[in-house]
Amino acid sequence: RLLIIDFGSQVTQLIARRLRELNVYCEIHPYQNVTDAFLADFAPKAVIFSGGPDSVTRDGSPRPPQSVYTMGVPILGICYGQQVMMQDLGGRVEGGKISGGGGTAEFGRAYVEPKGRHDDLLFGWFLDGREQVWMSHGDHVSKLAPGFEVYGTSPNAPFAITGNPARHFYAVQFHPEVHHTPNGKTLYENFVRLAGFTGDWTMGAYREEAIQKIRDQVGNAHVICGLSGGVDSSVTAILLHEAIGDQLTCVFVDHGLLRQNEAEEVVSMFRDHYNIKLIHADERELFLGELDGVTDPEVKRKTIGRLFIDVFQNYANQIEDAEFLAQGTLYPDVIESVSFSGGPSVTIKSHHNVGGLPEKMGLKLVEPLRELFKDEVRALGHELGLPASFIGRHPFPGPGLAIRCPGEITREKLEILRQADAVYIDQIRRHGLYDEIWQAFVAILPVRTVGVMGDGRTYDYACALRAVTSVDGMTADYYPFSHDFLGETATRIINEVQGINRVTYDITSKPPGTIEWE
Ligand code: XMP
Repeated sequence: RLLIIDFGSQVTQLIARRLRELNVYCEIHPYQNVTDAFLADFAPKAVIFSGGPDSVTRDGSPRPPQSVYTMGVPILGICYGQQVMMQDLGGRVEGGKISGGGGTAEFGRAYVEPKGRHDDLLFGWFLDGREQVWMSHGDHVSKLAPGFEVYGTSPNAPFAITGNPARHFYAVQFHPEVHHTPNGKTLYENFVRLAGFTGDWTMGAYREEAIQKIRDQVGNAHVICGLSGGVDSSVTAILLHEAIGDQLTCVFVDHGLLRQNEAEEVVSMFRDHYNIKLIHADERELFLGELDGVTDPEVKRKTIGRLFIDVFQNYANQIEDAEFLAQGTLYPDVIESVSFSGGPSVTIKSHHNVGGLPEKMGLKLVEPLRELFKDEVRALGHELGLPASFIGRHPFPGPGLAIRCPGEITREKLEILRQADAVYIDQIRRHGLYDEIWQAFVAILPVRTVGVMGDGRTYDYACALRAVTSVDGMTADYYPFSHDFLGETATRIINEVQGINRVTYDITSKPPGTIEWE
């Protein structure tokens, strides 16, 4: 296995992701934890030093234990990792001036040209004569450590790529793990091949590791898990169940704002199929009662979020000796909460989901997906036997249908909405479009319109169909259905759903719209 020593870069996790794409098992450990004893015990086959925000020119800046250089294993240093390596081994690093011209700080796109023995095993990656790379550094190496050579330079980083091939130590000034270094993965690939990895690690192996880690963390204690039926909480629950069986209890809160048959499907899958201890908290009356007469979107969201926490805590309190709370936190949540928390951003919507349970519950957290990206969670779900149709489901927001029902929420409107949504999704599936769409749903509008059906007058609700493409939900474009599809779907909804006599299609992108209506 490979050890990544984390010096605090925002993108350390991307190194792990690149390596996992290459089927190499790796672990990230913060530099503070990596002691000589830790290293000896871990016995890495190779080590990567991540980037980091500090400056090696500062006394007391983060360092690896010096024994890392005498273990005889290949080391790759990235950015701060390069500077640490150079300084530790006898080179020199200088602070760069950030502004004012003539500085050597460098942020953003740069091009590295080959130099010297660039056909070296590791850096034989100048596929196009020069490589686009992503730089983000204030300091730079000004003198190489003995035994090192230069393989590539950029205008502001004369030592952009360096290496000591005799010892298999390599170091680069830029970030090969980010998207903006398009061939960066090849560089990692060269490094892991050089270190002797064959690329035989799989999601199956990750599953085994994750299970072992859960057992080590939890011991004989009891764990509770909020289950929403979404991919993240489902994979968390199944993984935990594999690890600790009946020491896990899941709580599924039915707030009355779920889609057609959703509660039944979740309960039967987890209780009957997976045999997981599941509390089905049927709190529809409570939620719908409190939402009675509420029309403001933020009040809706906050009401649902608050009630959810209350309800969950009540159920959790009934589970004796619960010590841990399992959450389906993903890596992007971890990065965002670190780098953006407390920032000046405006609240567009107060998000609520099962991952938002408060710390004051006094439970310790188990977060087995914390290192994974969404697509990796899906792969893990596949590994755990979740059906493909389930894994590929569109996202569904925590506040559920409440935010697809602008204006007052009534049981009647919710029922109409459920039926219309089911017809719409059926249409999308029948036409083979489901997987091309990020998210599709119906919103029921707070207006009635006049229609004529048969020989009679109708006065029923109008609804809006929504379908968007997106990569991450942050920006989105409306899906360009054919007119035939839209016409057929409108006809089906009006014929099959009593209470709707008009169908519109929402063609707003995000921004300026948002995906949900509220
Ligand atoms: P918006 O409407 O903000 O939605 O463009 C972006 C994505 O987030 C989902 N969404 C939520 N998910 N709790 C969630 O778990 C929420 O409160 C929430 N609000 C919006 C939305 O469905 C879309 O995928």
